[in-house]
Amino acid sequence: MSEPRILVTSALPYANGPIHLGHLAGAYLPADVFCRYHRLKGSDVVYICGSDEHGAAIVKRALADGVTPREIVDRYHAMAERDFAAFGMSFDHYGRTSSPVHHETATEFFRAMAAAGAFSTHTEEMPYDPEVQLILADRFVVGTCPICGNPQAYGDQCEKCGTALSPRQLIEPRSTMSDAALEWRETTHFFLPMGEHQARIEAWIATKSHWKPNVLGQIKSWFTLGLGDRAMTRDLPWGVPVPEDVARAAGVDPEGKVLYVWFDAPIGYVSATREWAQRAGDPERWRTYWQREDTRLIHYIGKDNIVFHTISFPLMLMLHGGYVLPENVPANEFLNLEGDKLSTSRGWAVWLGEALEAFPADYLRYSLLRTLPETRDADFTWADFAAHVNNELADNFGNFANRTIQFVAKYRDGKIPPLGTPTDEDRAVLAALAEAPAKIGALIDGHEMRAAIQELMTVSRLGNKYFNDAAPWASRDADPARCDTTLHVSLQVCAALSILAEPFLPFTAAKLREILRLDGVRASTPGGGEGLGWDDAARPLLRAGDPLGAPAILVSKVDDAAIEAQRALLERRAAAAAAAAGPAPALPYAPLRETITYDDFAKLDLRVGKVVVAERVKKSKKLIRCEVDLGFETRQILAGVAEHLGPEDLLGREVIVVANLAPRKMVGLDSQGMLLMAEDRAGALRPVTAPSEPGSTVS
Ligand code: MF3
Ligand code: ZN
Repeated sequence: MSEPRILVTSALPYANGPIHLGHLAGAYLPADVFCRYHRLKGSDVVYICGSDEHGAAIVKRALADGVTPREIVDRYHAMAERDFAAFGMSFDHYGRTSSPVHHETATEFFRAMAAAGAFSTHTEEMPYDPEVQLILADRFVVGTCPICGNPQAYGDQCEKCGTALSPRQLIEPRSTMSDAALEWRETTHFFLPMGEHQARIEAWIATKSHWKPNVLGQIKSWFTLGLGDRAMTRDLPWGVPVPEDVARAAGVDPEGKVLYVWFDAPIGYVSATREWAQRAGDPERWRTYWQREDTRLIHYIGKDNIVFHTISFPLMLMLHGGYVLPENVPANEFLNLEGDKLSTSRGWAVWLGEALEAFPADYLRYSLLRTLPETRDADFTWADFAAHVNNELADNFGNFANRTIQFVAKYRDGKIPPLGTPTDEDRAVLAALAEAPAKIGALIDGHEMRAAIQELMTVSRLGNKYFNDAAPWASRDADPARCDTTLHVSLQVCAALSILAEPFLPFTAAKLREILRLDGVRASTPGGGEGLGWDDAARPLLRAGDPLGAPAILVSKVDDAAIEAQRALLERRAAAAAAAAGPAPALPYAPLRETITYDDFAKLDLRVGKVVVAERVKKSKKLIRCEVDLGFETRQILAGVAEHLGPEDLLGREVIVVANLAPRKMVGLDSQGMLLMAEDRAGALRPVTAPSEPGSTVS
């Protein structure tokens, strides 16, 4: 096969809850587009995913529900598999880390690394919760992150800044399982001394200048901090047991010890590939993908998984030896929901299963692709969803196909008219089609899915414009041959779209091909077989004289009631979660500052200003440069909020400005004032706004 061999993985979701839209926008939908595209290209693709069924996340959920971890993972594994299938995810195999093949593979990995001298062992004091009788690590313990100050950092990682942590590094650690005062217990574990390998990892990362800036940025900050020793085993009643002989040989009591979930879970990619090969009747075939250097290995993940996929798992692969390393780790940022951070515990999430009961999968796929947090956090709102479906998918894409096909059905007996004698306009459309596959394909291959789907819509927009300008309804009687040409060219655009849309909107694309009776296109799902592929969309695919199938509506609009129902559902669930959670978590309020007099306060000149420009400052992670209209003048103000807010959170808003603050220079730019922000106990920022005319005084 001349096309490359590609191994794609999507982060294994924890089997402790349903799949939600945030998952899809991070690690799943972009990977599915990538794999479907490459299958249409004729590449040799294996796409691997599965359930992450070990670790504190699962045990916690089981304890909370009063059931066994097995019951939890069985329930959510089945649900994820069902929902993903209904959403059109085209995995070659969806495994699970509780499977025997995985236990075997992870054990072998640990054993081989131990034999190569990869681990050291240390005895340390760890927090212990006497009430639940667990040594607390990972999600069992939270505290303040020593790096960024997030008060809700976990024992193994701060999800806010991405830094890998140990429970001992947390400031004021607390159990997440009970209010019991923590005790400390000695326990011995296997550690991976990552610091010893930092130079090697840095040298490897140095060859990855093509990686996304958000990924490289995080990696760089960990290198600056310096990699440390990371425990690779845990005291937990659920997981892959530490092999007894290896433990004893190292002088460690194996009782109650399992592999750390972030050690075993990424090996799940390998295990799932092994299961796939076994099912295909060629059990050794997984090696072709994992153990040959010319495989393109690509890990699709969300940003909280970056450290594990760019540093610890590659290091494990290096130390084990014989494995290919990732070509790219195109991590996405987070998807927010209706302006607020997504949170399953606060009930602020849209479950995929429920969304699919209300809307066709392709509507969700389209809106999510338009909103992907590829370079920064993005916001999914139901209002945007309706606009995406109604104004773009229906009015642009669906409408073009419908009007073309209806016209042919009505006035040309449902048969494809001849091309006749094309004019320059007709030829220009066919020429644009000829370039579309390469253009869209390059964007997909470069992991720019948002741009790719925009480019797809450019093709149908072109079709619409062409149809309008050519006005076949006018030429129908006056110049039937002209009308035929227009319809022929329009139908060829529809045919190309039915292939080009396949990676993004597989259900709609298939329906369109059915209406066009365009047979012989290979499937973009596993084992797609032979037939017309991606590049064939560059040339006219329909033959004059052939009959079309019965017309059918491709995309129907979503109505306000359906959107309102989703919003109401979200509000109800958030309210239920708040009621169930009881009073807000006992995070400390900021202490009051010393008392001031009215005169002290009156020195402040606070004004309402309208943010007319807001953009990130390239040289700084923290700063957003704003231009603020104060009515009597416009000022440049640098706000140190870029780690919490995007320019879109400020642009166009009427904010409150400290207008008589002495100017300051930051990264070479003048800042003439300050924007007021409210910071809640969890550290989230919101601009203080006032719907008033710019220049208004505030007192
Ligand atoms: N379960 C993890 C999460 O949801 C992801 C695991 S990815 C893998 O954050 F590499 F470990 F598989
Ligand atoms: Zn942090």
